[in-house]
Amino acid sequence: MRKRIIAFISAIVVILVAIVGYNVYNRQASSESTTANKQVTKQVTKKSTTTNKKNGKTLIVYFSRTDGVSGGHLKVGHTKVVADFIQKHTGADEYEIQAAKPYPKSYQATADQAQKEQQDNARPKIKGTLPDVSKYDTVFIGAPVWWGEYPMIVRTFMDATNLDGKTVIPFTTHMGSGLGNTQEQLKEQYPKSKVRDGLGVEGTDANNSQKTVDNWLNKLGY
Ligand SMILES: Cc1cc2nc3c(=O)[nH]c(=O)nc-3n(C[C@H](O)[C@H](O)[C@H](O)COP(=O)(O)O)c2cc1C
Repeated sequence: MRKRIIAFISAIVVILVAIVGYNVYNRQASSESTTANKQVTKQVTKKSTTTNKKNGKTLIVYFSRTDGVSGGHLKVGHTKVVADFIQKHTGADEYEIQAAKPYPKSYQATADQAQKEQQDNARPKIKGTLPDVSKYDTVFIGAPVWWGEYPMIVRTFMDATNLDGKTVIPFTTHMGSGLGNTQEQLKEQYPKSKVRDGLGVEGTDANNSQKTVDNWLNKLGY
């Protein structure tokens, strides 16, 4: 009789251990699959930030000098600062227009050259290859205002780039001219594109402009 009781208790213990073990395994497996699901969601969220619902896939194109107007070297050019704020907010791709023949370090020499380029309706060469814009729905085009307009090297980019059917948005940094003539230039260059309201940031305010940039982008649906 005693042997039977011991056998019965042992059987119950074995069954209990099996039940507890199964539950622990199940809980672990379910928590692992939740973690895996979370990781997938994270990747998708990351992807969907670069393809904005309203504005689609976005590219930021900009030109910027690091030799300030007073001759002092800037670590990061004013327009690049703003371009990077836009990138931070939108998660968009960036492309920097660089001159095949860099502009002079001196402000005066650059000012003279820029004025001559404008008078000659020149198209200064761009270094390297241009981006493939076919995969983008929206393109920001940013630059310092030079003599009231986009620098002519930006016009080189514009002439070489078909943005028909896409949305184009200007932004500038400046010393008082705001957007200058850039918005009108885009409308003229791209009659088959939708040109939306741009943003002009005073160059010396560029480093403190993140909030202004964010507010503008929010209005644009980013
Ligand atoms: C050649 C040249 C022409 C400029 N013309 C103007 C102008 O017409 N209006 C204006 O407000 N600022 C003008 N500026 C000032 C720049 O737009 C301003 O300093 C800008 O923030 C520089 O941007 P960056 O650091 O990205 O090059 C000019 C600067 C240069 C070098």
